[in-house]
Amino acid sequence: MECGIAPFRQAIPDLTARPRKHTGARGPLWYPPPASERSRNQPVTPNVKHHVADLGLSELGRQKIEWADRDMPVLAQIRERFAKERPLEGLRISACLHVTTETANLARTLKAGGADLMLVASNPLSTQDDTAAALVQEYDISTYAIKGEDDETYYSHLTAAIDHAPHITLDDGADVIGVLHGDRREMLDGIIGGTEETTTGVIRLKALEAEGKLAFPVVAVNDANTKHMFDNRYGTGQSTLDGLMRATNILIAGRKCVVGGYGWCGRGLASRLKGMGAHVIVIEVDPLAALEAVMDGFEVLPVAEAAKEGDIFITATGNIHVLRREHFEHMKDGAIIANTGHFNVEIDIPGLEELSDGSREVRPFVQEYVLRNGRKVYLLAEGRLLNLSAAEGHPAAVMDMSFANQALAAEYMAKNASTLENTVYSVPADIDAEISRLKLASMGVEIDALTDEQQKYLASWDQGT
Ligand SMILES: NC(=O)c1ccc[n+]([C@@H]2O[C@H](COP(=O)([O-])OP(=O)(O)OC[C@H]3O[C@@H](n4cnc5c(N)ncnc54)[C@H](O)[C@@H]3O)[C@@H](O)[C@H]2O)c1
Repeated sequence: MECGIAPFRQAIPDLTARPRKHTGARGPLWYPPPASERSRNQPVTPNVKHHVADLGLSELGRQKIEWADRDMPVLAQIRERFAKERPLEGLRISACLHVTTETANLARTLKAGGADLMLVASNPLSTQDDTAAALVQEYDISTYAIKGEDDETYYSHLTAAIDHAPHITLDDGADVIGVLHGDRREMLDGIIGGTEETTTGVIRLKALEAEGKLAFPVVAVNDANTKHMFDNRYGTGQSTLDGLMRATNILIAGRKCVVGGYGWCGRGLASRLKGMGAHVIVIEVDPLAALEAVMDGFEVLPVAEAAKEGDIFITATGNIHVLRREHFEHMKDGAIIANTGHFNVEIDIPGLEELSDGSREVRPFVQEYVLRNGRKVYLLAEGRLLNLSAAEGHPAAVMDMSFANQALAAEYMAKNASTLENTVYSVPADIDAEISRLKLASMGVEIDALTDEQQKYLASWDQGT
């Protein structure tokens, strides 16, 4: 094979086998029923293995996937080329991503490229059940994802992704790679490489690399400029506000909003909250990021001070226990707390529970905690990514670039894995530049080119004052 892939040592999974039944997941289990159980009135039996909530949602899912596709022209171009060139032919890919309409269009692209794809959820709350159904029923893509799945089901889906015996992994948060380097090391030999979507995943992979334990090369998609400058900033900024508004329907104007972390996501969120009329307070630990927040016109406070001031708190740090007991105790009655960082660790939820006499759901994704000091605080979406839990995640126009990077990084891995070290790679600069060019072209925006004189000037040292 052109890409120099070592023969895979594991047996190819039997795609006709019925998966083990999982317990505890919300919603019915859907596996291809044996022929004896089928009636003529049933929808066409899916050809692929799956564990989704309701295949009856597939038509709605298909409509939404097509709607998202209208705003994903770069990915569509890649899909067209992939269908002709089939760069992923013969490769099994296990993707652990948020199962949204945009991800569905990435999945279609990888399949068009020839990949034997298995998609599982990268978060228990981010799955769109109609999208998952359409992936199985309309696009013949093996999908294991149910919105609200419990931890046991979540991990059984990761197991399914690993049992797929992938040559390439696509992660959002490094959960598949984490399990592969832990309990499932026997599967490492067959893997040629992987990709990682988000900041937190890249941090985990770099920690693995620093310990000398990373077992295959991984491309850090998040580090592409065409990913984090747009997805993390504009995507998270807008969709987190969308999640906040859908969950609570509160007015943002006039509210004091505390943003945790002034990185790519925090910057996007702070500027959009400001645009809606909020008074934004930033908390930070990095002096440079804090200084930038000050110069951008935001108030910067230590978290202990901000805790007393804020009406709404949203963390976007990728760090643990940014909001904890000593902060909850000083929050105003009615304070709203949420997170849009990757894992649900940014808010110390066990600490909140210990301080409370009890909690109850007062609206979908809104849990009221009654603290023993008599005040109430409201935790959104179990402290999980607010934008993907209570809304639909990023708009397609930014995921177009993120997933163009994913598709091209998978192709890059297929072609170059045999020459790569077991380390974390950036997306090659020419891929990043090409995605910017294609995105601009799709938006009908033209830019200038350097004249010969300008090129010469920029390459010279002898023309001064
Ligand atoms: N919700 C989404 O859809 C989405 C999208 C992209 C990234 N993410 C996730 O969001 C998180 C942030 O990503 P990013 O790209 O903005 O990262 P980043 O590294 O650019 O920014 C994180 C910022 O948080 C600050 N920080 C760290 N610990 C802190 C603490 N205790 N208190 C205050 N500030 C602290 C850091 O100094 C840094 O400035 C990551 O977990 C990432 O995976 C989520």
